[in-house]
Order: sequence, then C-alpha cells, then structure tokens
Amino acid sequence: MKVLAFCGSPRKAGNTRTLLDEVARGVADAGGKCEILDIAAMNIAPCRACKGCFGTGRCTQNEDMDGLYDKIAAADAFVFGTPVYFWGPSAQMKAFVDRWYSIVHGPDFRLLKGKKAAVVTPYADDEPSTAQHTVGMFETAFKYLGLEFAGALGVTAGKEGEVRNDARAMEQAFALGQSLARG
Ligand SMILES: Cc1cc2nc3c(=O)[nH]c(=O)nc-3n(C[C@H](O)[C@H](O)[C@H](O)COP(=O)(O)O)c2cc1C
Repeated sequence: MKVLAFCGSPRKAGNTRTLLDEVARGVADAGGKCEILDIAAMNIAPCRACKGCFGTGRCTQNEDMDGLYDKIAAADAFVFGTPVYFWGPSAQMKAFVDRWYSIVHGPDFRLLKGKKAAVVTPYADDEPSTAQHTVGMFETAFKYLGLEFAGALGVTAGKEGEVRNDARAMEQAFALGQSLARG
C-alpha cells in the first residue's frame, strides 16, 4: 500500500509534520510505504482558471506541481496535513488542492475513485469545532474527487512540534497510518 502524505505547514518541525511522521510510522508498521511531500516548501502557484488542463489533465503552469501528478496517480491512499489558519487550511494547502482541478479534467481522474483519503489538522484553540470548516472542506472535496473519506485527526497544539508531547494524538496518528496501510 503506497500512502502519499502532503504537509501544508511552513514549519519544518511543526505539529502537522510531527503528526504526519507518526502516520508514516504507522503505515510502515502495517507493511505499507508512506512518502511525505513538503508541499509548503514547493513552488505551487494558485490555479489561474485558464482551463488549459481540460482534456490533458496537466496544468499549463510549469512548476513543482508537474512532478506530483504521476505520484498522485500511483498512490493508493492520501493524507492531507494542514494547520488550521483562520478556520480553514493554510494558503499553501489550498493552492495545492485547487490544482487537483487539472486531475478532474484529465484521464487520471478515474484513478482516484475509491482511494482512501484522511485529514490531519492541528490548531491552537482547545475547541474542536475550530477544525470543522477545514475538515468539512476536505470531506466534501473528497466526495467530488471520488475519494473515500478515511477520517480526520484534529488536535490542539500551538507551539512548533508540541504535539509530540500529546501521547493520545501521537497514538491516533500512528493508528491512522496503520489503518490506511491495511486498506
Ligand atoms: C496565520 C495563522 C493563522 C492561524 N489561525 C488559527 C485559527 O484560526 N485557529 C487556531 O486554533 N489556530 C490558528 N493558528 C495556529 C496554528 O493552527 C497552530 O499553531 C498549529 O499547531 C500550527 O501547525 P504547524 O506547527 O504544523 O505549523 C494560526 C496560525 C497562523 C500562523
């Protein structure tokens, strides 16, 4: 089972990355492989709505997204990791998700059908509803993309990497990875 995880936080050792690393450990523990892509560090521009991808499935903007389409097509499951920024995903994550529009309009769209996708989202508030719009956006977008929602892990954590002190959250991240790897 090949799991592809996307990290939408600019903090290299942040809570999103820490949780995704734990998801990856869970995937490996269950016999799968997990690659984490640091999409926040990549050059991924917003969609320009030019419709240049219609039919081809490839964006006309030639930057780092070019190299990701084949990885996405080859993956068996996905994890979208993003901090909550103003009750939504980070701008880096949103730009990345918008670029899946190309996939919808190309031949690889059918390859997404039925693949599992999960969300990992830390936030500073201690109020779980803080993540509701972020999780809701992904859940609805997954439906549109033909992906199967495999759960969301929302965790309170503010300072960079402090989630590693939250044993329960780390266990949940590990278990999420295991369950994705088991299909
Ligand atoms: C621009 C910005 C906006 C944020 N907005 C929220 C918010 O709306 N609600 C919240 O609880 N935390 C908010 N936070 C805090 C982050 O979600 C929190 O620190 C999270 O753990 C960051 O994840 P990271 O360590 O992976 O970067 C915000 C942080 C930044 C930088």
